[in-house]
Amino acid sequence: MISRRHWLSAVGAGTALTAQAQSPQPQPGDSTRAQRMRWWHEAKFGMFIHWGLYSVLERREWVLEQEAIPIPEYEQLARRFTPQPGVARQWAKLAKRAGQKYMVLTTKHHEGFCLFDSKLTDYCAPKQACGRDLVREYVDAARAEGLRVGFYYSLMDWHHPDGERCAKDEAARQRFVAYIHGQLRELLTNYGKIDILWYDVASPLDAKGWESERMNRMVFELQPDIIVNNRNKLPGDFGTPEQSITAETRPWESCMTLNNSWGYCRTDEEWKSARTIVRNLVSCSRGGGNYLLNIGPRGDGSAPEGSIQILNQVGSWLERNGRSIYGTDRCQVGYAQMAGFTRRGNTLYLQVHYWDGAVLSIPGIKNKVLSARILVSGDQLRYKQDEYRLLFSDLPVTPPDDPVSVIELELDGVPAQMDRNLIRGREHRGKA
Ligand code: GLC
Repeated sequence: MISRRHWLSAVGAGTALTAQAQSPQPQPGDSTRAQRMRWWHEAKFGMFIHWGLYSVLERREWVLEQEAIPIPEYEQLARRFTPQPGVARQWAKLAKRAGQKYMVLTTKHHEGFCLFDSKLTDYCAPKQACGRDLVREYVDAARAEGLRVGFYYSLMDWHHPDGERCAKDEAARQRFVAYIHGQLRELLTNYGKIDILWYDVASPLDAKGWESERMNRMVFELQPDIIVNNRNKLPGDFGTPEQSITAETRPWESCMTLNNSWGYCRTDEEWKSARTIVRNLVSCSRGGGNYLLNIGPRGDGSAPEGSIQILNQVGSWLERNGRSIYGTDRCQVGYAQMAGFTRRGNTLYLQVHYWDGAVLSIPGIKNKVLSARILVSGDQLRYKQDEYRLLFSDLPVTPPDDPVSVIELELDGVPAQMDRNLIRGREHRGKA
């Protein structure tokens, strides 16, 4: 949920101050940000894909570090990593069906194995048993489905000999930074237009050590329209709250797992429900953010059935109710237990997750409601409105949609809700 402090900042209070604190100096890409980010704000929903050698072991993406596996032993996994043909097409089709508008693939995770062709290492899919450039397949697949393409790239590297000693040894740092910048250059040169660069884990260096400003300058030179996140220790174009929905004053994207694991985990069957995912997507949209939802395919590239089922359900909901999500603006209205909210212009959407029967009321809507209807059917709804309460009392008894039913309200201005304390005040309810 978004706290009051967060939405206050989300609707503008203190924007100048925060922006200043986050970005004391001009940053590469500042002047073109609004234009570069336009599609992304509309898109709202993306697919994250964690996939690498670890997927073969089926014990999540940190298995090398967490189980203290010696590097030479881990490297042997490259012999077993021989995915089925066409898997990227399957993910892209799944993302499309799910209503996701972009994808972000781990081109290299902390394990150091590259899914792309690199001249700078042999530890990459095309030069190992796999024998294919999996990033090329992924880019082609996403484009074929009309989806935007994102590259996740881990700066931290457990495989590279300088990956750790770079923190203490200047010569090692220079070699390692040349390697990382060099790989980013390959990624952003060899695959056509790339829409998102998603850095991860900058340990063990700081922005100075990574030469992050030079890094971002190179990125924008190679890909003038790209957007970058903040995980190379610069503010970048958007913030990246992880496993939580925390609205920020600036663009942000909440990344989240569908179960409890990023990389494939055979024993993790703790799936979130489609309703939870829809509610989360609504919360992100309300706070002006995006939702990047992860799948962790198996070593052979197949997505777990659990994720496929949920994504299909969410996608079918979005087909009917996407109007209340895509291209919506930050929304100040947010106080109700049975529903989430989004808005576009003067239109307010109520995404009702607890449809309690014929009666539903929303407190403290400040605008006059001009009309109300159920989004899925178009059926007009009767309502009564006074200063404190918007009351529907003859709704259909069973929820008109599943897992969340949407009501669309036309208001006479930008949707606004009273302060909770005013709603709570007793005067309007009559004295005891
Ligand atoms: C966490 C995990 C990492 C994953 C990332 C995604 O930092 O440790 O493995 O890639 O989240 O945001």
